[in-house]
Amino acid sequence: MPSFHCITYGCQMNVNDSAWVARALIKMGWKESGMETADFIFINTCSVREKPQHKVLSMLGIIRETNPKASVAVAGCVAQQMGEKLWEKNAHVRLVLGSDGIAHAPEAFEKIAKNPKLRLSYLKFTKEFPNRNPELDFFKNILVLPTGTVEESTKGNDTRAFVNIMQGCNNFCAYCIVPYTRGRQKSRPASSVLAECREWLERGICDLTLLGQNVNAYGKDNAGDTPHFVELLYEVAKLDGLKRLHIVTPHPRDFCDATVNAYKELPVLAPRLHLPLQAGSNAILEKMGRGYTNHDFMRLVDKLRSARPDIALSTDLIVGFPTETEEDFQETLRIMKEADFIASFSFIYSDRPNTRASKMQDKINPKVGLDRLNRLMELQNELGEKWLKSRVGMETDVLLEAKSAKPKYSEIKDNDIAVETIKSAESLNGDSDATSWQGHDTWGNTVNLIIPNRLNYKAGDIAPVKIVTAKKHSLLGELK
Ligand code: SAH
Ligand code: SF4
Ligand code: F3S
Repeated sequence: MPSFHCITYGCQMNVNDSAWVARALIKMGWKESGMETADFIFINTCSVREKPQHKVLSMLGIIRETNPKASVAVAGCVAQQMGEKLWEKNAHVRLVLGSDGIAHAPEAFEKIAKNPKLRLSYLKFTKEFPNRNPELDFFKNILVLPTGTVEESTKGNDTRAFVNIMQGCNNFCAYCIVPYTRGRQKSRPASSVLAECREWLERGICDLTLLGQNVNAYGKDNAGDTPHFVELLYEVAKLDGLKRLHIVTPHPRDFCDATVNAYKELPVLAPRLHLPLQAGSNAILEKMGRGYTNHDFMRLVDKLRSARPDIALSTDLIVGFPTETEEDFQETLRIMKEADFIASFSFIYSDRPNTRASKMQDKINPKVGLDRLNRLMELQNELGEKWLKSRVGMETDVLLEAKSAKPKYSEIKDNDIAVETIKSAESLNGDSDATSWQGHDTWGNTVNLIIPNRLNYKAGDIAPVKIVTAKKHSLLGELK
């Protein structure tokens, strides 16, 4: 049987798609192996900025040198964007799978494995949500991914799951390539979403994330069997065994009062929300075509805080959008403080082909962009650290995910309680009888703690924890 290796760039959608492809190939009897030895290499790509796109092209060169016999499949957004042009300079690329084409990956791999001369591309957008072939029933029986299949972001893959509810985007924000690479919005039928959620829950996963480019526009494309987003939310929230529910990514403009209210009524909805602001200046928001002002955004934040006083917000921000002045940028800093984001993904504006912004005048000098990015990250670090410190003393639930390296006394010397906690946990039954665990609290903070083995905790369990200290990017807790 052939061997394969997966490389994944880009957003959670890509991580999820790669995980599905890996499960499917393993089900077909293929073996996972390293990049230097695999017969087939699957690269799932991102073109949201210029850098990740370049990474893909240089990775194709690295593969040609380190594993010249391998056949390569390029999937995802760069594949959709470049299509069969990828074949021109890359003799080893034999499969090009666009955003909707990924659903054909298993059969396409089988075909090119059988016929070494064959090259295939699947680039057409489908009209409906590209459901994965149900006859093949790949989903069943293969839940846990072999390690290393998709990097970092799948840590905790056997305790949390992401369920795609839609594909594509209709917004055409001026800077964004996604509507071109992922196509128009297509909602997945609710019956299919609920069936996948049930599958995960039956297998003991209790933490689900509903995933899409613009989740709260779900159903607006009016494909059959798609209720309003908020109805879907309530349906999922009712499922047995569900302990935490997240949504990624909602659009501030599409955030209706009923969804805000869901944060009040559904305790299972995690009190952590990623809400992309992009920019704080109204002039820039308007040029971006985001469909809200900074005032609208702050009103939404206030409504969410009234509905759920403990809600913590994170965001996406772009600096250096064409025409952005220092005053515009100051508005971004101001709104960041007002909204009190606990974390943000921030980017320097990058020109993308076909987008409206790429045709705009008054591009910002990259040095100015970098300076703004640094200042923005400085503020974000302050806000993030302040947030973590505010958690100290709180009692919370932690979903245990993986055994972790023991926290070192030297790193936490300044906190006597934390040192005492670790010492006492270790002395309970001697050092080897306690395990150091890593997990997440309901706000998505990483929490480390030591638990005596006799308590029989395992990955996927939820432990009651008191936070004893805040580190730069994570928390240290003690079992309650
Ligand atoms: N659908 C999501 C975002 C998808 S892209 C949303 O609307 O929020 C992820 C992030 O990449 C965006 O939120 C934006 O901050 C950033 N981004 C997209 N296009 C970009 C560009 N041309 N230059 C810099 N950052 C960009
Ligand atoms: Fe891109 Fe805007 Fe769609 Fe998000 S909402 S994917 S930023 S076009
Ligand atoms: Fe990138 Fe495509 Fe996701 S451009 S961010 S992989 S939708």
